[in-house]
Amino acid sequence: MARLIIRGGKPLRGKVRVGGRKNSAVAVLPATLLADGPSTVENLPAIEDVRVYAEILTHLGCRVAGVPAPSGNGALVVDPRDFAFAEIPYALTKRLRASYYLLGVMLARCGHAEVPLPGGCDIGLRPIDQHLKGFRALGAEVTIEHGVVRASAPRLTGATVYLDVVSVGATINIMLAATLAEGTTIIENAAKEPHVVDLANYLNAAGARVQGAGTDVIRIRGVERLQGCTHAIIPDEIEAATYMIAGAATRGEVSVENVIPKHLDPVVAKLQEAGAEVEERGDVLSIRMDRRPRAVNVKTLPYPGFPTDVQQPITVLLSLAEGTSIVTESIWESRFKHVDELKRMGTNIRVEGRTAIIEGVDRLTGAPVRATDLRAGAALVIAALAAEGQTEISGIELVDRGYERATEKLIALGADVVRED
Ligand code: EPZ
Repeated sequence: MARLIIRGGKPLRGKVRVGGRKNSAVAVLPATLLADGPSTVENLPAIEDVRVYAEILTHLGCRVAGVPAPSGNGALVVDPRDFAFAEIPYALTKRLRASYYLLGVMLARCGHAEVPLPGGCDIGLRPIDQHLKGFRALGAEVTIEHGVVRASAPRLTGATVYLDVVSVGATINIMLAATLAEGTTIIENAAKEPHVVDLANYLNAAGARVQGAGTDVIRIRGVERLQGCTHAIIPDEIEAATYMIAGAATRGEVSVENVIPKHLDPVVAKLQEAGAEVEERGDVLSIRMDRRPRAVNVKTLPYPGFPTDVQQPITVLLSLAEGTSIVTESIWESRFKHVDELKRMGTNIRVEGRTAIIEGVDRLTGAPVRATDLRAGAALVIAALAAEGQTEISGIELVDRGYERATEKLIALGADVVRED
């Protein structure tokens, strides 16, 4: 178990380069299996989820060259020419939520797929019924037995799928399967997240015909084959938001570089409402806060609403606000496990179902705490940076899944952080 020891109470000052977006990388990497030649995927973050996907692609017979350089901005060359169907061991898929994208890819390329159901995680049940609804609409037989999803179809045929719920994973998985299907697939009530668009851009560069990504209706005209191509992953706006909130919570001044400001609109709007000054200069966003935040209300929604992955970090900022804030988590049914840990640091938060009522306090104090999931870990790091005294955070491996070189980046911002593996 790795842990971070943080001595808080110091304003963060400086700039941090944001890496490639985790949730795009874990969609584009499996998508490279659809092509019949090598693809180069650039701007990959040096995170655990990317390393696990590289292992999975190798397990499936691909040649994977290069590893995301420790300096970030890594590139992988994936050559799928020897890709062949294989069962994926649960030991691999349980380490990576997004292993379910292999279903859409193997169904399209091999005509059948067997992927262990990804474990739930600490934010909710993580169902995949909408993914399977899409595969069945495309003509696949789908069963779930002994925790393994099996899907098969000699050839997928295009269909119209109306998603019951806006689902990023289902939108992406159906898009992946539909690229090589016979005919046209229309996904209605599709997710509009920037990484849905990023994946569509990769697929179209590889010869697919995807239109409408970024809107709630996506049309995919099936093609015979895709060829390898080069694609740079978009920046990770969740990582950017996390560092901006850390800057605000420590009453410092932080600039995040290599971002697409548009992707951060809902987060910037909320931070400004809470009293932060935010300045945009090209692909740099700078945040400054020199006093207590104002209490604001937050409701998480699909993009372009406030992102659920930033709910836990902003809860920490609001725990220090003047007044009472209401945070409503409308996406996941239990994404408040960080609250129990935050209470140990002096917050005053009451959780009722999917709502957290946050009475702002004027200071947090350091304490031993434990990360329960990726973004909860990020929230605890922010709390530790803002708190007086020392905090030890265990379970930091969870943070490694989505934040590349976090210790190094925090130290560069002036934080007093030591990592013990
Ligand atoms: C993706 O998860 C992200 N993960 C999550 O980020 C993120 O929180 C989520 O999108 C929402 O933005 C990856 O991209 C790997 P959904 P995903 O399908 O695709 C329900 C992080 O911290 N639903 O958009 O699994 C579901 O229960 C992670 O980086 C169904 O009911 O999320 C949820 O309430 C955490 N049936 C809602 O839809 C389905 O078949 C949104 O889920 C699928 C989803």
